[in-house]
Amino acid sequence: MLTGALNVRVFASEPEAAAACAALVAAAIREKPSLVLGLPTGRTPLNVYRELVALHQRGQVDFSRVTTFNLDEFLGLAPDDPSSYRAYMERHFFQHINLAPERIHFFDGSAERAERECVRYDLKLLEAGGLDLLLLGIGPNGHVAFIEPGDSLQAGSHRARLSRESRLAVASLFGDDVWKVPLAALTLGMAGMLQARRVILLAFGVSKAAAVTAMLRGPITPMCPASFLQLHGNVEVWLDAESGRGVDGSR
Ligand code: PGA
Repeated sequence: MLTGALNVRVFASEPEAAAACAALVAAAIREKPSLVLGLPTGRTPLNVYRELVALHQRGQVDFSRVTTFNLDEFLGLAPDDPSSYRAYMERHFFQHINLAPERIHFFDGSAERAERECVRYDLKLLEAGGLDLLLLGIGPNGHVAFIEPGDSLQAGSHRARLSRESRLAVASLFGDDVWKVPLAALTLGMAGMLQARRVILLAFGVSKAAAVTAMLRGPITPMCPASFLQLHGNVEVWLDAESGRGVDGSR
């Protein structure tokens, strides 16, 4: 289904979409073993990672030449902090597959100078030739990675002040204590996303329906950062029935 500028696919269920997404990633790696992959965190991709681990364990996908860039990290957290996104990725994905550690790229949330760390990250991404395939989630407020709604967006990687909504959404990583969630994060900028050669955005559940509708049908505005994906020629938005309820007007 083509909705405005973006291709939309509505799946019968979240597990079905996750299995299809894992199959797509595995096929992309078989086609190009040195794939450069952009990876999200959060609840949305958990089943995709589980499926990819299962495919790897069955010998159906080899990550040994793949390069990864994660999209964001909490400011102030070292990579080995159990609440960091780096630790999340180790737990749910990296430790179960055969990625080469030197080809895993992450913001260092504990870097002393955030601006310099962002420049380092963008240079690494440039050196890698940009992202071949970017997997994305979306926040209920329309954020992608931690590019938060605001008056303007930044093209490059940057330090982002986290909205209260975003901090509440990740409180489970911090013992359900929102006061422990860092106030800021380092995030890839919109340019890195728009330069990705292919984007799959996943959104599941009714809490994402309004953001999905705004992304697909609304104006391109920094108040809904995901709406900038309308400018990209190769984005697929994969939904379940709940997140897609506003999409075709039939619900
Ligand atoms: P979630 O977060 O997967 O935990 O819903 C998605 C996002 O905020 O991008």
